[in-house]
Amino acid sequence: MALNHRIALVKLARIYDALIITDDVYDFLQWPTNSSTETSTTSLDKALFPRLVDIDRTLEPVPGDDNFGNAMSNGSFSKIAGPGTRTGWAEATRKFVYGLSQCGSSRSGGAPSQLVATMMCELLKSGALQTHIERVLKPAYKRRYEIMMEAIKRELIPLGVWVDEGKLKGAGMENDVFGGYFIWIELPEGIDSEEVASRAKDQENLIVAPGAIFEVQGDKGVTFPGGIRLCFSWEEEGDLEEGVVRLGRIIREVMSSASRNKGKDGNVIASKQDLGEFQ
Ligand SMILES: Cc1ncc(COP(=O)(O)O)c(C=O)c1O
Repeated sequence: MALNHRIALVKLARIYDALIITDDVYDFLQWPTNSSTETSTTSLDKALFPRLVDIDRTLEPVPGDDNFGNAMSNGSFSKIAGPGTRTGWAEATRKFVYGLSQCGSSRSGGAPSQLVATMMCELLKSGALQTHIERVLKPAYKRRYEIMMEAIKRELIPLGVWVDEGKLKGAGMENDVFGGYFIWIELPEGIDSEEVASRAKDQENLIVAPGAIFEVQGDKGVTFPGGIRLCFSWEEEGDLEEGVVRLGRIIREVMSSASRNKGKDGNVIASKQDLGEFQ
């Protein structure tokens, strides 16, 4: 979400006294996209891009000690210390966090996982986690992102695929910023991402996430029938390009069967839904 949209959202929440609960577990993994591969210009002391909770805590009028604020963030060590850590934290105003700490489950049991939380605490105190994020994760993910984005531009854009390059520049930012684990693409008009994802798995042993799984069930206001989320963080650098090539093969195949299925008047005469039990 662009910076001006983040600021506008916090202002809107303040007007309606609403609480924005942000599942922003990837926001510690950010890098500039229009600089060299080095991430040495970044630092955990200052986010390249402020989170909603940062904006809420710093935007005038800054919430005072007696104010809950209008945004909270949940973080997960699973994304920055190691997959499966399954321990996280909540961030908000002082008053909000105190309220959260007084919930029955926290008061009686403490942290959901004391053992892992103790390990995370040691990693933070020693600075080892901060160093790991800056020296290992961010440079590695930036490289993987660049490899996958190059492959997308070469293999998929010519097919009519659109890619969200995550241009977040705005309001005083020097660099465009990207971050996290994923790249979002949109297939050419009329190409169903669920069909592409299912064929990719069956025929190419390739796992991609179709847009429908990111929809709010029952809310037809926002749907992503042609969207696909690609993950660049998990695979080794050498496999990322191959994955995009395989995806390109499937998209081409689905596009050519879609054009074969078009009747003379241009309407689709057989689609996945029309095939009933044979789909
Ligand atoms: C957006 C988001 N929030 C939360 C989580 C869960 O994190 P944890 O492992 O701490 O439960 C994930 C993990 O996949 C995630 O992608």
